Amino acid sequence: MSQGAGIDSILKENRVFAPPHEFAVASRVPSLERYQELYDLAERDPEAYWAGVALDLRWTKPWTQVLDWQPPSARWFDGAETNLSHNCLDRHLATRGNRAALIWEGEPGDARILTYQQLHRETCRFANVLLRLGVRQGDRVAIYLPMVPEAAIAMLACARIGAVHSVVFGGFSAEALRDRINDAGAKLVVTADGGYRRGKVVALKAAVDAAVERAPSVERVVVVRRTGDKVAMEPGRDSYWHELVEGVSDKHEAASLPAEHPLFILYTSGTTGKPKGIVHTTAGYMVGVYSTTQMVFDLKDNDTYWCTADVGWVTGHSYVVYGPLLNGATTVMYEGAPDFPEQDRLWKIIDKYDVTIFYTAPTAIRAFMRWGEQWPMRHDLASLRLLGTVGEPINPEAWMWYRQVIGGGRCPIVDTWWQTETGAIMCSPLPGATPTKPGSCTRPLPGIAMDVVTRDGTPVPPGQGGLLVVRRPWPSMLRTVWGDPERYARTYWSDVPGCYFTGDGARRDEDGYFWVMGRVDDVINVAGHRLGTMEVESALVAHPAVAEAAVVGRPDDLKGQAIVAFVTLKGGTGARLEPGEDARKALMAHVVTEIGAIARPDDIRFTDALPKTRSGKIMRRLLKEIAAGGETKGDTSTLEDISILARLRADDE
Ligand code: PRX
Repeated sequence: MSQGAGIDSILKENRVFAPPHEFAVASRVPSLERYQELYDLAERDPEAYWAGVALDLRWTKPWTQVLDWQPPSARWFDGAETNLSHNCLDRHLATRGNRAALIWEGEPGDARILTYQQLHRETCRFANVLLRLGVRQGDRVAIYLPMVPEAAIAMLACARIGAVHSVVFGGFSAEALRDRINDAGAKLVVTADGGYRRGKVVALKAAVDAAVERAPSVERVVVVRRTGDKVAMEPGRDSYWHELVEGVSDKHEAASLPAEHPLFILYTSGTTGKPKGIVHTTAGYMVGVYSTTQMVFDLKDNDTYWCTADVGWVTGHSYVVYGPLLNGATTVMYEGAPDFPEQDRLWKIIDKYDVTIFYTAPTAIRAFMRWGEQWPMRHDLASLRLLGTVGEPINPEAWMWYRQVIGGGRCPIVDTWWQTETGAIMCSPLPGATPTKPGSCTRPLPGIAMDVVTRDGTPVPPGQGGLLVVRRPWPSMLRTVWGDPERYARTYWSDVPGCYFTGDGARRDEDGYFWVMGRVDDVINVAGHRLGTMEVESALVAHPAVAEAAVVGRPDDLKGQAIVAFVTLKGGTGARLEPGEDARKALMAHVVTEIGAIARPDDIRFTDALPKTRSGKIMRRLLKEIAAGGETKGDTSTLEDISILARLRADDE
């Protein structure tokens, strides 16, 4: 972590977009005043606020205490019993049994629509199968699937019987899968014969076979038939899903589970190589995702909601599966790549199903920008009423493009800040209430006490950068790191006294809006001025010739750190720059004009792609090592395209 207090913030963004009047009047929280009232109410008595939210849901036993806080351990709704799967499915059967719960489209163009009734039955059936296979409350089940309905069904079935799921992203390697299975001690693995990605089959079952070879806890493997390809089946261990469910009852009464019963483990990268198993529990997580989905996406009965995240990430857990289903909404799920067979696939899906709410990541938006607006222009996107982003700071350039080209200038954008650890959205505009500023996640949601502070916990004045913290526990917070409570306490609750430390740097402006500047370990210190790498990147991306940029620090004798920028230029005939000395000079000058001489990159390297994790985050750690001229070390299991690394290294020589 960086030393000292402030992080110099240099990004200036003055545009403000009020919620459109028609949107505001029809929304759940229709004005900034109403938001403020709710926020103040929650501040006066946070426990009463959360208890009020929780009463919307069904409980088999009431709580005796809303919050039991023994820092750093929180217990929410203690004494209560409930079931998440029941609240996602059974609760809606009487009122919306025949409404579409899940609209699924496979990459080859096949589709399935499951109503609440059907999803309920499939879930009950699979819950019964899990029980037959010997899975019991508290047992861990690894789910390693493509984006198919069975992924959601398996999660809901685990939650139904009280098994703890650990979804592992289908793009991870066999080794990464094995590490996660072993860390969690999973008893059963749910996988598929394969999945489709960019027209090719991803051989998931083969990866499971390799992983399970050295994963002694695994007793059974359940295989979804997706591609129909022949795969090796180990007798006694492996069975096909469709054979297992045959003739099994579609009735199952959801288990009544204690509020703090562990719901899932989800692995996320830390600053060290070993991934951390973030643990979420039942009731608090349920209350958090239920209320944030409703408020932030302003869900209405006729919405068709699409979050493009994979279920292998927390966004897929909270905002593809649990949040929308808790609200009785229709959630869209797409199996494949956004550019298959052509770069308009997502726009085609929006057009086809009349999607009204679309939630994606800035990295995807920048790819769409690079592909060009001719692709969305081929389709009718008039059904859209709300757009969202998550995962990283969005540069104002991409925000404006998203608003104009995808949102037709009429849809509010919710820039939602949160983490795997927070379980649910923490800071975001409410679309009918909060005026938005491109690049800001605006203000915390009611009940969430966020602050920007120095290392000793003192709030910093408006405009000044500092550490982003949460001052109070919230229901959907992580409870521990699986098998390592000490790491939990150390990583999250010891950097800033009395606060949960997010690992992010941020500033707040005079309107109380939060501007997240990225991880504090992505901060560069140049001649005593600390700069958020995102701000320099944002300036570079604002240049019309630049598609994408990543900025890292390199040790420098004179200035402490020098700024190295890795830049991808836009291709095609409209391109205004060719990689080379002239382009380098032009971009340096551009950054100087945008931010000031302090941010001028010392070195700009052109590359045709940046190394990214499979979730699309730029791997700055690797770029730092390349910039410093060293070897790359550590865990690269999350790297999307390892060849890029090799090329960057080769350029270095
Ligand atoms: O640095 C912040 C960034 O993503 C981190 C959390 O990553 P992860 O646990 O993978 O979860 C991603 C999906 C919730 C944060 O610490 N981040 C996430 N959303 C935003 C963001 N940074 C800026 N603005 C956001 N909206």
